[in-house]
Amino acid sequence: MERSYGILNAGDGAWAFEEHAQRLSRILGAEIITKPREFNYVLSLEDEGLPEFAQSFIPLASLLLASDKRLLATAFQEHGVATPATILAEDAAEVMDIVRENGQCKWCLKWPIGCGGSGHRVIETAAAIPADWPRPYVVQEFIPMTSPEVYRIFGCEGEIFGWLARKFPEDTAASPWVSHARGARYVSYGSAPIEAQTQARLALKATGLLDSFGCVDLIARPSGEWLVLEVGSDGVYNHVDRDIGDLELVREIEERLGQCFQSLRKSY
Ligand SMILES: Nc1ncnc2c1ncn2[C@@H]1O[C@H](COP(=O)(O)OP(=O)(O)O)[C@@H](O)[C@H]1O
Ligand SMILES: [Mg+2]
Repeated sequence: MERSYGILNAGDGAWAFEEHAQRLSRILGAEIITKPREFNYVLSLEDEGLPEFAQSFIPLASLLLASDKRLLATAFQEHGVATPATILAEDAAEVMDIVRENGQCKWCLKWPIGCGGSGHRVIETAAAIPADWPRPYVVQEFIPMTSPEVYRIFGCEGEIFGWLARKFPEDTAASPWVSHARGARYVSYGSAPIEAQTQARLALKATGLLDSFGCVDLIARPSGEWLVLEVGSDGVYNHVDRDIGDLELVREIEERLGQCFQSLRKSY
């Protein structure tokens, strides 16, 4: 017997996923539901989570990982994903020790549970360290770039595809924190360098997203080494941006996603 399925958009957070749910519903040919079924594309959940019988298409543990840079730092380290040097510090004194003892590069403090680069700051003095942030602090080597650029690659059903750069248009004030929300735009770049693909695959594997769906953001050192910043996925805390200006790639994402959803639904 086939498993029942749907796009689960329930609970207090559902309003934020309304539009995305509609889009997914068209793509997956699945109903939007507020009560879990056997197989769920989870966008938003009631507080009690999923009942025993219900499976999430994208593992809930992966969504949690993707939403918290403290958890991500540990997962990336454990799986040997190349990232800027990242250290979790218990208090402000420890943050300043890291900055002082490693003066060969700049360090930034990253807001652990946000998106769009909000909160991140380069740390030079203790005064820049907010006392009321969640602990541990995420202290990361800051990679300086004359014109800041970030790259994004996608993964679905075990395959890596797509390659976008994100940067500020010439008429927009550049910030070191390159995000869509701050006015940066996506540019398609053809296919990704092999090393970027390798690191992206490793990052999706490390976070349990490789068999379903996720994206990976990377930056490059001046030496050309590819470093993973974070992974993203669809659900609960955020969703993968589809406003990327490349309609063909958007179509490819949705096509792969549809296939992956249906094939995981049927396999258990
Ligand atoms: N270590 C770093 N060095 C240089 N730039 C960075 C670094 N970390 C993040 N950035 C910049 O800040 C942006 C947002 O950082 P990111 O880690 O993706 O957090 P968020 O969850 O806020 O999107 C990135 O797209 C990148 O432009
Ligand atoms: Mg980001």
